[in-house]
Amino acid sequence: MCGIIGYVGKEDATPYLLDGLRRLEYRGYDSSGIAVLDKDGGINLQKCAGRLENLRRQIGDKPESGCCGISHTRWATHGEATDENAHPHFDQSGKLVLVHNGVIENYQKLRDDLEADGHQFLSQTDSEVLGHLIGLAYENQNGVKESNSEERLVAAVREALKKVSGTYGIVVMHVDAPGFLVGARLGSPLIVGLGKDENFLASDVSAVVAHTSDAIYLNDYDLVCLKSDEFKVERIDGGAADFQVSQVEFSAEDVELGDYPHYMLKEIFEQPESIENAFRGRLSDEEASAMLGGLQMSPQELRDVDRIVLVGCGSACHAAMAGEHIIEALSRIPTEVEIASEFRYRNVPLDKHTLVFVISQSGETIDSLGALREAQRKGFRVLSLVNAVGSTIARESDGGTYMHSGPEIGVAATKSFTSQLTLLTLLGLLLGRMRDMSVSDGQEILREIRALPDKVREVLKQNERIKEIALKYVEAPGMLYLGRQFNYSTALEGALKMKEISYIFASGHASAELKHGVIALITEDLPSVFVAPKDSVYEKNMSSMEEVKARKGPVIAITTEGNQELERIADDVIYVPDTIECLNPILSVIPLQLLSYHFAVARDCDVDKPRNLAKSVTVE
Ligand code: AGP
Ligand code: GLU
Repeated sequence: MCGIIGYVGKEDATPYLLDGLRRLEYRGYDSSGIAVLDKDGGINLQKCAGRLENLRRQIGDKPESGCCGISHTRWATHGEATDENAHPHFDQSGKLVLVHNGVIENYQKLRDDLEADGHQFLSQTDSEVLGHLIGLAYENQNGVKESNSEERLVAAVREALKKVSGTYGIVVMHVDAPGFLVGARLGSPLIVGLGKDENFLASDVSAVVAHTSDAIYLNDYDLVCLKSDEFKVERIDGGAADFQVSQVEFSAEDVELGDYPHYMLKEIFEQPESIENAFRGRLSDEEASAMLGGLQMSPQELRDVDRIVLVGCGSACHAAMAGEHIIEALSRIPTEVEIASEFRYRNVPLDKHTLVFVISQSGETIDSLGALREAQRKGFRVLSLVNAVGSTIARESDGGTYMHSGPEIGVAATKSFTSQLTLLTLLGLLLGRMRDMSVSDGQEILREIRALPDKVREVLKQNERIKEIALKYVEAPGMLYLGRQFNYSTALEGALKMKEISYIFASGHASAELKHGVIALITEDLPSVFVAPKDSVYEKNMSSMEEVKARKGPVIAITTEGNQELERIADDVIYVPDTIECLNPILSVIPLQLLSYHFAVARDCDVDKPRNLAKSVTVE
């Protein structure tokens, strides 16, 4: 939630800050703002509600010059999306500005105390309170010891942050310390981009990758001081910080739109490559198995695993649900799924051979991070399946696997979902081949995994046909999604895609659940999408479709190519290539991704930045 970028260098800051916001806008887009330390030592601050374009228009083509600045694109948690609530926020003195990602949970008490002390607030946000707190701490040091302003600012940040509870990723700037930025993080991501005579602070590396590929991923309780030609990372309590400079694994063009109209469509069409990236170098023909070295577990430790808990949110949770079927089918290890926000508060009874797996594209989802920390607090081994290299979940887990999907900018998860399914299949294969899976079964799975990219390309060729189907139903008041076994979660994922980018009501159900209440919803204008490949439950799905047709409900069916039988039942049929049951969700979800995409475009929705949403949920 929300994107932050700070720049200090030899060039004018505004172009860097605006370009960084453009690359971070997918993290939140309720409002945006920018503050630059101008040549006269004043702070030029501009901010406004709405999209970044509004801010650009407000700034005009003669932006204030200045080589040090901060900027923010917001996803509101406290206070509506208004100009006043946009970041950056001044302190009481008007000499300090701050941008913040996160939630200050005790902000009301702090605000009451500050107001009693004469402070006046211009916004309803929790962030402004933090700005005032730091500013007050800075002013109060006047009487302590004469020290340079930079030291005072760092000390003020330290003092103020000791008083807050909640989460923060902040960047602070003060007129007394030109060319100097202070950043700190707890629970919200913050990275340092190290350039040549210029340095950056940002919520994630996509904001800086056009200028540098050298990045430091800060840890919780880290504090960083930044100038154009130097930086210092310390712990918030003053101790030395442990950090390393990493190379960003993707390029600036990877985060560009290219010839696509939307990032979501680009990322849907990247799936042949992203799925191949997920399994590249991880298939062992010799062992008829998979190689997942990042798990940091010996073969014996992997053999000892007697229970697996898959944890995630949203689409990652749907991938976990498919993973439950996949891992149990391939390895016979009891596997269960926990919604991360539930798991972290539920005190789930686990034992020492339980393996907890946190799945997260961004690696920053705060509920998934909370689940990871809760499981580790109880001494359990926690692995992660993450896309964003160097993200908090990736760094704090006891090992794991990177998805290598490349940056996923569209708020709706697409390629990350199919990469997660691919990796969960590799995990099931690895664990199964350590137990009772035969060589021949392992070889068949390897063959089908290798065939996936081309089979995905076959599905993508139907894009125009799927668009026609979408347009046929675009006025529908809602949509039902039905599936069974490996594809129950595909139905849930399809419904989530439709909800989050088309804003129509959609719900996913196990097909057989229709007759337990859901079928009451069926009318002539409510389409039902059935994920019904020619698999072990195909006939049962057909019966469910007949029940819908008997009530005049329109049916869209996703089934295996060559299976013409559904032409007589369904109103529209979309075919996907045949594959083994556990891999079918990877193929069947793609028509659902495209269906929701074309719905959203036809309904003139903002596909890449749907209302109320953001790409990474780093607030609770
Ligand atoms: C899915 O389309 C949504 N963007 C959302 O549900 C997302 O999957 C969820 O917030 C989890 O994000 P993560 O994978 O980055 O943890
Ligand atoms: N809590 C702050 C606000 O509502 C920051 C929200 C965010 O992280 O986007 O302005």
